[in-house]
Amino acid sequence: MKKSSFIRLSKPLLLIACSLLLIGRSNSQDADRQLPVTGDIFKCLTEMTKSLNGDFFVDNILGNLEATTAVANSETGGDYPPGSVVVLVPSEAMVKHEAGWNAATNDWEFFELNVSEQGSEINVRGTTEVINQFGGNCFGCHVQARPEWDLICGTDHGCAPLPLTRETIANIQNSDPRCNKED
Ligand code: HEC
Repeated sequence: MKKSSFIRLSKPLLLIACSLLLIGRSNSQDADRQLPVTGDIFKCLTEMTKSLNGDFFVDNILGNLEATTAVANSETGGDYPPGSVVVLVPSEAMVKHEAGWNAATNDWEFFELNVSEQGSEINVRGTTEVINQFGGNCFGCHVQARPEWDLICGTDHGCAPLPLTRETIANIQNSDPRCNKED
């Protein structure tokens, strides 16, 4: 290959490489602060703890359920502790990694799950880029929650509402297939 055509070819490649590097950096996850999350940690909703106002369910994979529940039930908000698992409908969940894991999402990871009587399988996971089954970006909505709510929308924390009535949400919660798990 002649030198001139090599330069012509390699310039766009270099640009792509640089932008990938930048995207990677702006959305980096610190592997040392990542908690191990597999499908098994996502339980049937009735095995989780319901928040006092009844909006969503919580758990804590580090055994610190008390601290997670305290924030979920607080009337003034707060930062969820590492290990927190938060769920509204069975197919979507948020998990809090150790402090410093991902600055953009305040250490939350978003999950889209396939749930069945066999349990939960992780379909999509990540930070600011995860899209739900209706084509919405999890982070794009959840970041609208006022800062004291740590990206948790609830019914009145400032997020645009879901296109689902409370009744529909309750019906989806009550028909979690994992609760009929065959052992
Ligand atoms: C269109 C905006 C929107 C999108 C997109 C969205 N959410 Fe939500 N999410 C909400 C709202 C609003 C609520 C609160 C609904 C309620 O309680 O009535 C909520 C509730 C939740 C809850 C319960 C805790 C809370 O914040 O109230 C979790 C967990 C959750 N969503 C995870 C996800 C995940 C994971 C995704 C992507 C796979 C996602 N959401 C996509 C707006 C959105």
